[in-house]
Amino acid sequence: MKIVSYSIREDEMPALKNWEKAHPDVEVQVESELLTPESAAKAQGADGVVVYQQKPYTRETLQALHDAGINKMSLRNVGTDNIDMDAAKELGFQITNVPVYSPNAIAEHTIWLMGRLLRREPEYTAKIAKRDLRWAPEIGREMRMQTVGVVGTGHIGRVVIDILKGFGAKVVCYDVYQNDQLKAEGLYVDSLEELYQQADIITLHVPSLKENIHMINDDTIAQMKDGVIIVNAARGDLIDTDALIRGLDSGKIKAAGLDVYEKEVGVFNEDWEGKQFPDERLDNLLNRKNVIVTPHTAFYTETAVKNMVEISHNCNVQLIKGEKADNTVELG
Ligand code: NAD
Ligand code: COI
Repeated sequence: MKIVSYSIREDEMPALKNWEKAHPDVEVQVESELLTPESAAKAQGADGVVVYQQKPYTRETLQALHDAGINKMSLRNVGTDNIDMDAAKELGFQITNVPVYSPNAIAEHTIWLMGRLLRREPEYTAKIAKRDLRWAPEIGREMRMQTVGVVGTGHIGRVVIDILKGFGAKVVCYDVYQNDQLKAEGLYVDSLEELYQQADIITLHVPSLKENIHMINDDTIAQMKDGVIIVNAARGDLIDTDALIRGLDSGKIKAAGLDVYEKEVGVFNEDWEGKQFPDERLDNLLNRKNVIVTPHTAFYTETAVKNMVEISHNCNVQLIKGEKADNTVELG
């Protein structure tokens, strides 16, 4: 059995080597390249591919894989929003993802973003770099005094809520499907509007479904409290960036913590030293002392990376063996 593993990074190699040791019957061909219409040919003769990338898996890419004899593809990540699902279905693909590799990685990062903004860390860092060690005027706020609105109570949202409870924050949450335990605890509000009206901090943990794109826009921002803090470690296109910038300009939004960005594909996880970003709004956000941007690093922990490598390769073996795979992606 042979698997081609695309866009494997150095930091994934130890986990992959361990996995290979435990699976001597599987030959793994490691490719540092992303899966593209051109690199798909490298999978010729293999039984399946394991991939991770933020760039789209276009019809052209899937067709090229199909032409190379491959229709079993395992993602090392959660998000499937970059797959041309119609093409995947038409070409008879079987796809798996890793829906749960470490919700704690993303949840903890979310909490750090909130905490850093509440204690005005970017402003202090800028002051301290200039040898200004005075306290005022950057007085902080305590987590236990905040009402935090958690949008989406799936794997990640639920861990965020657990951590927030430890801080003593008041949690309100909203999900289109309610979790029994949170329901019993009375944490759900009946609508997003209600959540927006009550929350001092709003944190997003929903997928980038069509109906969720730009769920944070001028109209929904208008429903929020003055001085709201918005945190997004889910997907960039949940927020209309122009509306966010308008909200920050007017002061309606006090601060924002963004691990994801609408135009991040091809921008995050690249070195831009001495080069212009293709989207000047990113400079606008990065230059603000009340905004923290992290380049989609919420997932990036040793635990998560190990799980992503192991689970995705296990799933690919299941697909190749014709077994029911653990994390089969519904192609619509
Ligand atoms: P999940 O599927 O477990 O939970 C998502 C929840 O959102 C579900 O309960 C669903 O019912 C709910 N939902 C969908 N649309 C909604 C809406 N309009 N209003 C309210 N609830 C809605 O997903 P998860 O694993 O918790 O992931 C959450 C998000 O985090 C996803 O967008 C995922 O892609 C993203 N993510 C980000 C990173 C990162 O590194 N920043 C890593 C992994 C996942
Ligand atoms: C996902 O798993 O969907 C993520 O958002 C993390 C990815 C950048 C590896």
